[in-house]
Amino acid sequence: MAQVLLLLSGPNLNLLGDREPDVYGTDTLDDHVVAATARAARYGLEVEHVQSNAEADLVDAVHGARGRAAAIVVNAGALTHYGWSLHDALAAYDGPIVELHLSNPDRREPWRHTSVVSPVATGLISGFGGHGYRLAVDAVAELLGITVA
Ligand code: DQA
Repeated sequence: MAQVLLLLSGPNLNLLGDREPDVYGTDTLDDHVVAATARAARYGLEVEHVQSNAEADLVDAVHGARGRAAAIVVNAGALTHYGWSLHDALAAYDGPIVELHLSNPDRREPWRHTSVVSPVATGLISGFGGHGYRLAVDAVAELLGITVA
């Protein structure tokens, strides 16, 4: 059975394509999920994607990943900067966690410079736009020790 990779998308990411295209690009969230899914397939990983504008849904998704999903890739949107219950849920997950951002929050407004996800993430990919989704899957494969035949 394929190992599961949970891809989490936080608030407002459902508007990608439409939302501030100068910052986030014109690809939709579906486009990114398709790219991540295709990349994951190369490694025998199956992507499960959950997008929500509500922190509780993301917390529940992380709980559901415990003991089941091999890794988590999370773009928490603005919850990155203040979502402490998401932080705590991720802290209670024991697989690799890759924090992902389309933009580079450290180059933006000061309030985006703090991440409550980073302290519980294995690593961070930010600032590469949509390409970051493929990089995040590659990072997960590396962390899980999966090599392409
Ligand atoms: C984001 C960066 C966050 O600061 C912002 O609130 C988002 C998107 C990114 O992918 O660049 O919603 O996570």
